[in-house]
Parts: sequence; C-alpha cells; structure tokens
Amino acid sequence: MLMLRKKMARSYKNFSTDFVILSFISLAFTPSEASNHKFKSKMSNYHIKNLEEYFQVYRKSVRDPETFWEEIAEENFVWRKRWDSVLKYDLEKPEVKWFEGAKLNITENCIDRHLYTRGDKTAIIFEPNDPSEKAEHISYRNLHERVCRFANVLKDHGIKKGDRVCIYVPMIPELAVSILACARIGAIHSVVFAGFSSKALSTRINDCDCKMVITSDGSFRGNKTIDLKGIVDEALESCDGVKTVLVAKRINSEIYMKVNRDKWLQPLLDEAFHDCVPEIMDAEDPLFILYTSGSTGKPKGMVHTTAGYMVYCAYTFKNVFQYREDDVYWCTADIGWITGHSYIVYGPLANGATTLMFEGVPSYPDFGRFWQVIEKHKVSQFYTAPTAIRALAKERLDFSDKYDLTSLKILGSVGEPINEEAWHWYNDNIGKKNCPIVDTWWQTETGGIMISPIPYSTPTIPTYATLPLPGIQPALMDEEGNELKGNLVDGRLCIKFPWPAMARTIWDDHKRYKETYFSAYKNYYFTGDGALRDSTGYYRITGRVDDVIIVSGHNLGTAPIEDAINEHPAVAESAVVGFPHDIKGNALYGYVIIKDTGESRDRDNLRKEINQIIADHIGPIAKLDKIQFVSGLPKTRSGKIMRRILRKIAEGDTSNLGDTSTLLNPEVVQEVIDNVL
Ligand code: WTA
Repeated sequence: MLMLRKKMARSYKNFSTDFVILSFISLAFTPSEASNHKFKSKMSNYHIKNLEEYFQVYRKSVRDPETFWEEIAEENFVWRKRWDSVLKYDLEKPEVKWFEGAKLNITENCIDRHLYTRGDKTAIIFEPNDPSEKAEHISYRNLHERVCRFANVLKDHGIKKGDRVCIYVPMIPELAVSILACARIGAIHSVVFAGFSSKALSTRINDCDCKMVITSDGSFRGNKTIDLKGIVDEALESCDGVKTVLVAKRINSEIYMKVNRDKWLQPLLDEAFHDCVPEIMDAEDPLFILYTSGSTGKPKGMVHTTAGYMVYCAYTFKNVFQYREDDVYWCTADIGWITGHSYIVYGPLANGATTLMFEGVPSYPDFGRFWQVIEKHKVSQFYTAPTAIRALAKERLDFSDKYDLTSLKILGSVGEPINEEAWHWYNDNIGKKNCPIVDTWWQTETGGIMISPIPYSTPTIPTYATLPLPGIQPALMDEEGNELKGNLVDGRLCIKFPWPAMARTIWDDHKRYKETYFSAYKNYYFTGDGALRDSTGYYRITGRVDDVIIVSGHNLGTAPIEDAINEHPAVAESAVVGFPHDIKGNALYGYVIIKDTGESRDRDNLRKEINQIIADHIGPIAKLDKIQFVSGLPKTRSGKIMRRILRKIAEGDTSNLGDTSTLLNPEVVQEVIDNVL
C-alpha cells in the first residue's frame, strides 16, 4: 500500500524544490528600523517535499518535540527575546506553555519583517460582493500603515494591552486590519461572526467584558444588505461595559449613531499617526478569544496565546498549502471562524503570502462566482467547505467550465467530513484531476490544521484526512478509556501530546476547559470526534460523538437551541437532533412538546415562531429544517432524553432502535415514528 502511495505521489506534478527564505533575527530592533534592517536570511528546512521526508520529519517531531519546534521557531520568525524553555506542560491541571520567556509581537512577524523584502507585494486581495466593484490590492506596506493607524485609534480610545475588543465586522478589509491592530497593541480580539444575532453577540461581549465594539453600518450578502449596526445597538442594550463603538462605512446607509459612544472609523483613521510601536508581548499572552459551541451551556470562549499559535499556523499553512512566493491563496471561510483567523489572516501573512478575502457568497450573481474569482485573480490554492462544494455540485457544469481554472494547484476542504461524491466532483471538475485535495481536520480549539495530507507528498483518498501533521500525536480510545493500538481500529479521537497552537483555556472558566477536554481520558485532549485508522495508518473522521451538530460547516450545540425553543410560551419541552442533508451535511430536526392549554394553535405558525426565536437567540444558521410536535419524548428512567432513538427516527432508520422497553415511556416511541416528517 505504501509503495502504491509512493507511486501515486510521484505521479503528481513535480515541483521544483525552490525554497522560501524566511527571516530570523535574534537581535531586538525598533519598528522604525524594521524596514531598513538587513534581515539575516536563512534557508529554512520548512517545506516538506515528499512522503519519505514527511515520515522522517514526523518521527523526529515525536521523538523530540521540543527540538523540532524550537528549530522551526528559531529559523522562521522574528523574536524580541528568545524563550527560556520550549515546552512546559501538565495535562492534569491542565497547563501548557510554549516558548515561555520569549518576547514578540505577532504583527512584526506578519507585516513589518516583510516590508524589506516584500513591501510592494500584495498582502490582501479584497474581492467585493458585487463583481462590478473593483477589487482592492493591499500591499504589505499599505497594510502596515493601515494597521498602525487603526492601532493608534484604538489607543486613543483607551484600549490597552489585555483589554478585550469585540469585532463584529463583515468580510471587508477593516476586519483583517482591526484584528491586526488589536494584536499590534496587545489587545485581545474577540471576533464574532457577523451572522450571529444580537443576543448571541451580547452574550459574547459580556462573557469576556469587551470595552469596545468594532462594526460597520451594514454588510452586503449576495443581493441583500444586512443592518449590522442595528444588531449591535440592540445587543448593547444589555452590555454596560462597552464604552466605544467604531463604525466602518460599507453600505452607506443612514444609521443611528449614539452620541459619545458611536464613532465613524474613517475620519479617525485619517487623523491617526501612520506608525505605531508594537507592544512587546510574552509568548503566552492571550492573542484572541474565539467562541465555539459546546454541547451544553453558553458558548466557550477559547483562548489562544501568541507565540505557539503563530509558529503553528505559519508552519501548517506553509506545508498544507505548499505555499510558494508567487502563489495567490484563497480561503473562502469567514474570518469570524477559526479557519479565517488561522488561514486567511495569521498563517498566510506570517509567510508573506498573498491572501484573498471574499466578501460575497458562492451563488451571487450566479453559481459561477467562486470559479470566476479563481480565474480573475489566478488563485493557486483554494480552500473551502464541503457544504459549498455540495451546493455548487448541484448546479450545471457550465458554471465552472466557462472559467479558466488552470492556475489552481491545490484544493482544500475543511469543517466537516467531505463525502465521496463531493470529493470526486471537486477533484474532477475543479482540480481537473491535477490538484491534490487536502482534507484538513482540525477545530477552533486546536488553532491549526492537525490531520491532513501534505500535497504532492501524501497520496490522497476520498474521505480520509490521512496522516497527522508533524508534531501531532493522535490516539483513538475505546469507551472504557483504553487507547486502541495498531491499525484497523475505530474509536474516539484524542491527542496525546501538546502542540503549540492548542487553546490554553476557556475564558474565565478553566474548570470547564478541564472538564470538556481533559476529563474523559486522563492525560489526553479529547476532541469530541470519532475516527478510524485504516490498515496503513490513515485517519478518517467519522463525525461528532457528542451533542454538537455540524450544519453547513458550523458547529451548533443542541442545548442552546433547545433553550431558545423552550423560551416560546407555548413550548413545554424540546429535543433537537441532526439528520443527513444533501447540501448542509446535517440539518436540524426538532421534537417539540406543546403545553396543554386547551387552546388549539396553528401548527405552521408555531413552527415559524419557533424558528424566529432560534434566529433571535442564536442566528438564522441554527433554524430547524423540520419540527415535529409530539406528546412526549422518549426518556430513560432517570429522565434523560434518549437522543439516540430520536436521531434514528429523524434519519428515517427505525430498523434498529434497540431495546426500548426499559424506557420510562416506551409507548411514545411508536407515536413519534408514526408522525415522523
Ligand atoms: C469537524 C473548524 C471531518 C469536526 C476548523 C471538528 C471535520 C469540528 C473536518 C470543528 C474534516 C472539521 N473532516 N470533520 N476535515 N474539519 N471537522 O471548531 O467535527 O468550527 O470537531 O473548526 O468540525 O469545527 P470548528
């Protein structure tokens, strides 16, 4: 099998083994010197070039993780002070520290150091929602100036190191710039996806006590506009800690501006000084908070710290996308999710790459939009989600056929398992069987890609994320908590050794961090996913094993959705499960018990009202596709809802429901089956 894979690897396009020079300076330098400084350049052994090299590098990374990461950190980044220790950890506490004692600023690594060699190179291409609006090319020099001006505006408004700033901005350049401006001055950014509702926004603002919100007057999304500022105003009714709202102009709508609180961003930027001395941060200072859904309770504010995150994102970006100096890289995710943080902003910029930010949607003005953008900007790496691939695969092939996609070298997939059909469609019609597909498995919590092929090295197989990246030690566990050794096993996916980009805690709730990730299996990080390892050691992710459902690539916890439904005055109880959906991967199915008030209610209206409540509490992405009204929910004798049974019924598979006779209310199962939608 290995031989076969080697052969397959050789049959891929063979790259010239050009290398990329990254800079390392151990000397402290001031920012004004940065652009003049003759960076000491070093050839770095950074790019994995074939399968044998991958295995060599991987073995080294497991044998001696500290030396492995130390060399990468040493050779490829700018440090103000070297670390005292590479790694200290205790997974029982849990506490993990990478590069402790080091001092740095991540924006010097993402921007300043490129000014000398790549000042005029495009850092960010902004492709607007409307194809007739001109794309913007932001050079590294221009990005430096914009970030510095923005950073000075933040400082002028009292933001300092350690303060939390909420960023609720659509996919416009100000989003990337505001993130980097926070990092420049050591403020902790908390980006909230600009599709979340006002309630979801206020929960996140309050959870980490943000002092400021950055937003825009509105956003474009296909042929719609969204009143973002209105959502912020509503959210802030319950957020006393927010003193300032900076508003970028995007849709030019008339909006309400609260006196002394709301300020238009542009005039402030115009007046601000164009340079800003970066705040020098400790390696383990928090860089950002990003919320992710849990199976229970409020969203978890995952905290990522500075040095380890930077090193890991940069290294994985370089290898997983085999990035070369003249490539144009495009990840279609929203920066509001971890994929955008790590692989639109930090990973690409740390490598001096050109990264494309797309404001629009795949279906506007028509289903050829992605392919048109690839042709227009000669995109070389294209990274998207299976849900988008499935939606586009449903459309006529001439949407893709009419564009020149020959610039593409590598295709990526992220966010959920990619089914075989979608994989083949992507491979045949977009990659023209000439571009390796990297099926990248990772999580908000992991900070960066964990299991993925390395293009042109790892032979790919549909539905397999294949092999762990260097430094990553996966383990599969059985239900009793034993690690399953050897190949051809199927279990719960854990990671048994720390890696630099792992989230260090949940904001203000270390106990929950420990319980969620480090309690199921002692000394292992538990991912919440199931996976199998095949006969050659390849991993295939089989899906969540907890109550998180991935809908169109977005993680949704069932508990918060049920809490929202239960807010409806007519609802007594509810249970939400996932069921397979052609495009979204999973869709949501709700079983709802209505209070017996003697009144009859219009069922369709109720369904609409329930979905509206969900949209208000969480966002439209969490709306239910199907709502079945039931008189009871199957429960164990201890009162726990048997979701496994409800899931099977929603999936239309009632053949093997197991023994239902031990339920508290077995009679309800038949009723649920009889009325399934
Ligand atoms: C799922 C997204 C299968 C998985 C980066 C994980 C995947 C969750 C894949 C994290 C993949 C992500 N194959 N499943 N290639 N990538 N997942 O935090 O269930 O939004 O736990 O991070 O998405 O989603 P999150």
